[in-house]
Amino acid sequence: MKRAAILGVGHYVPSRVVTNDDLAKLFDTSDEWIRQRTGIQERRYIEHDGIGSSDLAVPAVQAACENAGIDVKDIDAIIFATLSPDHVFPGSGCFLQDKLGIPCVPAMDIRNQCSGFLYGLKVADAWVQTGMYQRVAVVGAEVHSTGIEFADRGRDVTVLFGDGAACAIVGPTEREDRGIIDIEVHADGSGAKLLWIEAADSTQTPRMQQRMIDEGTIWPSMNGKQVFRWATDKMPEVARSVMQRNGVTNDDIKLLVPHQANMRINEFVAKKLELPADKVVHNIQKYGNTTAASIPLALSEAMAEGRCGDGDLILFAAFGSGFTWGAGLVRLGS
Ligand code: ACO
Repeated sequence: MKRAAILGVGHYVPSRVVTNDDLAKLFDTSDEWIRQRTGIQERRYIEHDGIGSSDLAVPAVQAACENAGIDVKDIDAIIFATLSPDHVFPGSGCFLQDKLGIPCVPAMDIRNQCSGFLYGLKVADAWVQTGMYQRVAVVGAEVHSTGIEFADRGRDVTVLFGDGAACAIVGPTEREDRGIIDIEVHADGSGAKLLWIEAADSTQTPRMQQRMIDEGTIWPSMNGKQVFRWATDKMPEVARSVMQRNGVTNDDIKLLVPHQANMRINEFVAKKLELPADKVVHNIQKYGNTTAASIPLALSEAMAEGRCGDGDLILFAAFGSGFTWGAGLVRLGS
């Protein structure tokens, strides 16, 4: 078996900055409420209609390839994690593959929302370990801004989300002391309706009806308190599990790169893990929750800022809709 490593990372966010004050002009909210409850100050939205998750993914993949020192044409598999695919079908991975100009390369979508990147990384790890693929682009990309309700009814969800994309290139390494050490993922579908979008609904004929638009079931709905409780329970639990299995202590970890759902959730997680604040990466203040993109986006920024690099041990943790959650340990470099 070969050992898989993250060969490079890259990210892209659209240029349009939307502040909390901008949102307060559209519905009943305030900068103070959003900052206090979530840590978010601003987020990015696509500049205009017609831009999909696969469009945001293109520059993210290009940046990751450059960082990995490979050509886009070297990619031999795409894993595309998103909760906001360009269309219901086919998967955004297929749109991305065409836009990258790499025909025939297999493209698979993963629909595990905020945990999607870790699920994708686990699949890429297995593919590379078996020698099946050598250069897997694991992409997380979201366009949330076209799918949230800019009204008082949806304000609890709308203030949280932003658009963005990021990518990790996963391939083999000869080095025993570098690479993906362990990734553990879980799901509990009993929580599926605590954070979901009901419509379009394949159990109804037709799947999209005026009633759904009127009742607002086309917008995400969330039980915020339950999500908070589950996330602060499951993220530390699964992080501890991978650490214990691999004999890793807090001193060994350079950075915790958690999914950016909410600053308060991540502060709780760090506290439960007894990790000092300077070992935790936060960029939610700038981007909001970019779901499947958030972990690779945070890693990409942390690496670009010189906060971590070759040889450093990174702990990932995620929780999201499904419910799904997971954690991973990666020694950077190849
Ligand atoms: N602006 C102003 N007021 C708001 C807003 C808003 N955007 N949203 C809700 N409120 C109001 C509510 O209507 C409520 O008013 P009321 O007391 O008159 O009924 C009041 O604020 C308090 O609402 P709560 O839901 O009790 O607020 P809470 O303290 O639980 O905070 C929040 C809400 C921030 C969503 C919190 O529950 C949370 O962080 N949950 C985790 C959710 C999360 O992170 N989801 C991300 C997606 S999932 C993931 O990535 C893991």
